[in-house]
Amino acid sequence: MAGNIACLRGWHPALAKAELSALFPENEIKPLESHRMVEVSGDLNLLEATKVIQYSSGVRAILSDSIIMNWDGEGSMERFLHQVSVMIEDSPKTGSFSVSHWHQEGKIKGLSGSKIAGMIGGLAGRNGFTIDLDNPEHKLGLVIDGASNMVACGWLIDYISTEGNSNTRRATERPFFKPISLDPKLARLAVNLAGGPLDDNAVLDPMTGTGGFVIEAVMVGRKAIALDLEQEMVDGAMKNVLWALSSEEVTDPSRIQIIKGDATDLRNSVPSNWHQKISGMVLDPPYGRNSHGSLSHFKLIENTLHSFRDVANDDATIVLILPIHPLQEKKLELDEDSEEIKLLHGEWTSFKQMLKNDKWTIKGIWVEHVHSSLGRLILHASSVPQD
Ligand SMILES: C[S@@+](CC[C@H](N)C(=O)[O-])C[C@H]1O[C@@H](n2cnc3c(N)ncnc32)[C@H](O)[C@@H]1O
Repeated sequence: MAGNIACLRGWHPALAKAELSALFPENEIKPLESHRMVEVSGDLNLLEATKVIQYSSGVRAILSDSIIMNWDGEGSMERFLHQVSVMIEDSPKTGSFSVSHWHQEGKIKGLSGSKIAGMIGGLAGRNGFTIDLDNPEHKLGLVIDGASNMVACGWLIDYISTEGNSNTRRATERPFFKPISLDPKLARLAVNLAGGPLDDNAVLDPMTGTGGFVIEAVMVGRKAIALDLEQEMVDGAMKNVLWALSSEEVTDPSRIQIIKGDATDLRNSVPSNWHQKISGMVLDPPYGRNSHGSLSHFKLIENTLHSFRDVANDDATIVLILPIHPLQEKKLELDEDSEEIKLLHGEWTSFKQMLKNDKWTIKGIWVEHVHSSLGRLILHASSVPQD
């Protein structure tokens, strides 16, 4: 038994794993042989887990009381079905069920998902379950992971296909679009990473532009406060938020506010009712000099991070998106001491030193390829000093 298994989406499994850790801070996330599946150990609140799957960017499904096995040819089918049968027998569940199955990262030679799903259906039937494909009380999930040759099966807590998820939406569809607009799936992930579990705390987006982060925050039901120096961006971001919520006006300004303000002076720019009620900041600074041209890219970030402490909770975290030169080798995750990090503006070593001087602890660094001459570094840091 592998307990609870989370199946991660393919666009960036390393970031998806970090998102999962941020959303389930009480559980340990343990790697499994497949980089698209991880174990979520400890007790899982099922209602909470269902919500997480719905609002996360990187989690596709969670299986509970599951089994996972390396498919090594001879005897695999027999062993697998035996383990599934024990799993079904040991479960206190009764009533109707269905089986959902899917492949990730290719198929396993000679293995048919629908055939095994049928056999699992037979096992459940023999244990007193009745099949109901339209409205089952329980679902069994079967995952075939081609890259790792692993097959997993468990009770499906929830499952997202693709419709309506942040992974399928595009920033170009919004009424106010600019080339600076972030990809919704990255924006959703950054908001969850910075904000942590969905609670009464807010996420701050102090350089909101077209509102990439703030849209995702309010779509998942988070409180959000966003700023921009430019009135055009403030108005445009609000237009996008209302469009995303299919609403004509924001009904509760204590849940969402987008205002003109300076990210380097958050104490005065963020209204005092939000102070010390902010669990995370998402920061996507302009690539060149800031709009007023007065500060370098580096200084703008340094001042914003420092200023965040005036309004943030003591244990707040930040997610920072930085332009970098593309890596020579394809990698998803980097160590802070890696020599491969080449920022577009300034030296990584000085940047890292600046974070240290301001007492930020780096929790993780990930990389995303944008095009042949641009990459993105996604940095997660905590205001709590390292143990
Ligand atoms: C790269 S864009 C943000 C893009 C955004 N993530 C999106 O999805 O559209 C950076 C934004 O920061 C704003 N900005 C620059 N300096 C600022 C400051 N000191 N305070 C607040 N906003 C600032 C710019 O006007 C610009 O809209």
